[in-house]
Amino acid sequence: MLKELVIELVTKSIRTFLTGTSTRFRLKKPHFVNFPEIIKGGLYIHVPVCEQLCAYCPYNRIPYNKDLAKGYMKAIIREIKYYSQQLPKIEVTSIYFGGGTPTVLSKGIEKIIDALRSNFQIAGPLCVETNPGDLTREKVNMLKSLEVQAISLGIQSFYQKWLDLIGRQYTLEKVETVLACVDCQVKLTHVFR
Ligand SMILES: C[S@@+](CC[C@H](N)C(=O)[O-])C[C@H]1O[C@@H](n2cnc3c(N)ncnc32)[C@H](O)[C@@H]1O
Ligand code: SF4
Repeated sequence: MLKELVIELVTKSIRTFLTGTSTRFRLKKPHFVNFPEIIKGGLYIHVPVCEQLCAYCPYNRIPYNKDLAKGYMKAIIREIKYYSQQLPKIEVTSIYFGGGTPTVLSKGIEKIIDALRSNFQIAGPLCVETNPGDLTREKVNMLKSLEVQAISLGIQSFYQKWLDLIGRQYTLEKVETVLACVDCQVKLTHVFR
């Protein structure tokens, strides 16, 4: 707990030094988008839940809670239907599930992908973000059966001491197991070398 507070404090100090603000993102004013005229585009689905929160992570995420996640999934499916009506001409060139850790939803991902397929013309690859702590052979098989072509796997470091220091809840052994059962395209994200 103390370690997480210290990391949060150091992170905020560095962020303030580098960007002039301690907030995570600078938001620009929204500009007008003519949805009905869009004929091509990628879709991004944010899944802001994780089993454990990493202190260094600036993204929009909260600890997984079954009821909240259920409500969030319903809301996503409502949005999919709404935007498919707003974007009648769109050909979807890619779909990216970012997080958070989208695979925490397990079968929920399947429901969202089904809704996307029923409501949009999809002409490109699907990609899902995850990390070795959450990925299992069953989940890899589920993603394959859903024709997910790419997984963004946040390994962070190939040194156990760094994984421990930043509070990641998996071992290098688990990383190896996960890599052995993933045979689709793998993008390795490791922040700490
Ligand atoms: C938002 S996470 C989502 C994927 C997954 N939850 C995970 O833990 O890897 C995507 C990636 O963002 C990167 N990331 C997180 N915090 C970061 C930071 N403060 N600076 C740069 N990259 C960061 C990590 O490499 C992480 O794998
Ligand atoms: S598991 Fe991923 S998204 Fe969640 S807090 Fe850690 S780095 Fe951020």
